[in-house]
Amino acid sequence: MYRRILTLVGLALCLAACKTAPKGPQDLLTVNDKKIDAVIAQMTLEEKVNMLHSKTNMSSAGVERLGIADMHYADGPFGIREEGVPNGFQSAGWQLDSATYFPTGSALAATWSEDLAYQYGTGMGVEARLRGKDVILGPAVNIQRLPVGGRTYEYLSEDPILSAALALYYTKGVQDQGTAVCIKHFAVNNQETNRGSVDAQVDERTLREIYLKPFERAVVEGGAMSVMPAYNKVNGDYCSENEHLLNEILRGEWGFKGFTVSDWGGTHSTMGAMLHGLNVQMTGDNYLGQPVIDSIKVGKLTEEMVDEKVRQILRVRYAIEAIPDDVANTKQTSQPESQAIAKAVAEKSIVLLKNEGGALPLKPGVKKIAVIGQNAVLKTQSGGVGAGVKALYEITPLEGIRKRAGADVQVDYAPGYKNFPGRRWGRNPATPDPLVATAIDEPADKKLLAEAVKLARQADVVIFFGGTNKSIETEGSDRANIDLPTGQNEVVKALYEANKNLVTVLISGGPTDLRQLEPVSPAIVQGWWNGTEGGTALAEVLFGDIAPSGKLPFTFPAKLDDSPAFALGNFPDKTQGGDLFTMLYRQDLSREERAEIMAKLPKPVSQYTEGSLVGYRWYDTKNVKPMYAFGHGLSYVDFGYGAMTAAAGKDTVTVSFELSNEGAMPADEVVQLYVARPGATVEWPAKELKAFARVSLKAGEKKTVELSIPVKDLRYWNVEKNAWDLEHGTLQLLLGAASDDIRQTAEVAI
Ligand code: BGC
Repeated sequence: MYRRILTLVGLALCLAACKTAPKGPQDLLTVNDKKIDAVIAQMTLEEKVNMLHSKTNMSSAGVERLGIADMHYADGPFGIREEGVPNGFQSAGWQLDSATYFPTGSALAATWSEDLAYQYGTGMGVEARLRGKDVILGPAVNIQRLPVGGRTYEYLSEDPILSAALALYYTKGVQDQGTAVCIKHFAVNNQETNRGSVDAQVDERTLREIYLKPFERAVVEGGAMSVMPAYNKVNGDYCSENEHLLNEILRGEWGFKGFTVSDWGGTHSTMGAMLHGLNVQMTGDNYLGQPVIDSIKVGKLTEEMVDEKVRQILRVRYAIEAIPDDVANTKQTSQPESQAIAKAVAEKSIVLLKNEGGALPLKPGVKKIAVIGQNAVLKTQSGGVGAGVKALYEITPLEGIRKRAGADVQVDYAPGYKNFPGRRWGRNPATPDPLVATAIDEPADKKLLAEAVKLARQADVVIFFGGTNKSIETEGSDRANIDLPTGQNEVVKALYEANKNLVTVLISGGPTDLRQLEPVSPAIVQGWWNGTEGGTALAEVLFGDIAPSGKLPFTFPAKLDDSPAFALGNFPDKTQGGDLFTMLYRQDLSREERAEIMAKLPKPVSQYTEGSLVGYRWYDTKNVKPMYAFGHGLSYVDFGYGAMTAAAGKDTVTVSFELSNEGAMPADEVVQLYVARPGATVEWPAKELKAFARVSLKAGEKKTVELSIPVKDLRYWNVEKNAWDLEHGTLQLLLGAASDDIRQTAEVAI
């Protein structure tokens, strides 16, 4: 079959023998450059150009004659996507490709755990290898700028430090298994509205400090081998041909040695892509196929440029061992070890938002539980477009509760409300389904409501499952607002009137407007789209087998208009630009016709005038009280924060304090260290997260916790110098359990 290709292990051994030590993980990729150049010398121009575009919907070509295997890609990021037909996303109808469905991005981020992000990556990496995949199209690490963002659930956090840490460990986890990541979507891909044409206009300081951070850590420290430029433009240029992003920053400043892969349909021109940093056009060959050869013939491009692109692809091809066709796909994709990781992540991701009067955990005497709401039975593995997973199995919340409750407890279920099948991707069935709404804001269904209230009256406790679904929060469109859909507010109010023992569980990937729900919900849990074992983990938390320990990775605004881009009128832009992504796949039009239509489309813009005041940075600085703050999350125990000592060294600022579990059960606390800069001359948000740790404590246990902030993370991007700069002065250290729950402060000079 294919020639044996150096694995990462081999690569490391070779490095040990090399005279000059590598400068960083990216330099590991260059160890085969001599060999690669010798191979390139044997390739025809056609063979080289053939590597610069898709071969099938999920692969790009190697050169079989020279033993260079094709590159196989897999979505990502929450499970290895089911096998599609060669030229599309339709199912190939395989049996063994059912994968582990891992909790989605915001759920992973709610764990605030580098360790779990690493394990998550290992699970993804292992399952990719079983499927013969070389590159995972993930992690997806854009900043959650908009509460309505269609891909908020795919992304990690509104905060760059948290996103960057998790992006880094996910990357390491994947790549340590001999699979490459393709970190996406580079960059400033924060909205789905006009995603194929919108120009994100963001100032350089904000770009560096907020939007690029997660990519920077994954590339520089994690050695991410490939990067997916986003659909949108940044400051005038498409990301797939953006000189500043791809050549100056990614390759120039960060030393990226691998290859870039355009988002599917996100390549826009031959010259732009060739000159400004793209390696592989996915999908199609209309830009990086024959036109490249033609451009060389007329002297617009050179063969050396093609060689350089091929070299960058081959570095990754040589670092990742190709799995022979007769070895791949011989085992079930989903593996027990990955299922255990998915469960561990789910257990630590669940956020207890409110717990008035100790409504949770459920009391041991509970004999009759009414579970109300379709989200209790909805499977969340598929939907959402690219990030769907065909899971080997998925435990729904209702299944988890029934299993945990056991035979002695009666668990009744009623749907409570109709569910909405999607604004854009859904279809209206020929005969109306009594459980399916035709509009997202349809009022509560009287019959379903009456049935739910009846159950609630007879129960010891009611668990209401609200939230959204993956047709409402989805790639390809943003939500129109963050309202709870299909009369859920009406339902929860009626349930509370019927029975005050009410617990609300929100199943969603992003925030929802809780102004009506909160006053009638003594306990509120954010339960996420929590993967294969989501229902099991949720039941463990509800019944008190484990203490909840997730913390919000984004702010729940009180109302949408409070959030920065909405408050400033920066979103939504009224210009309808049309979705280029959809355009590019229109088979009924010729290339020329498509280009003509696209040229006439208005050019939508997204102004990022809120600057670095994204998420809690905005609410804190502008004194706007959110519904639930960034970093918030309660436990079943109290934690004591002992006095903090702080010291500033040349390279790090360190704090130390004693954390104690004052309760009667084991529990984890996520401690958070923010900084403020009294007296600074440079403009800063009121406070910024700079370090965090998840600490596990047995009942009554005390531990000394140390947190450190690398001084380099305290720098700002000085636009005049066009470089990172440190402002010396007083640094206030704010240690707490949430961004709005600061327990200790100290000051140091830097
Ligand atoms: C998405 C990517 C995804 C790709 C391939 C695109 O529509 O934006 O995130 O990896 O499709 O499925």
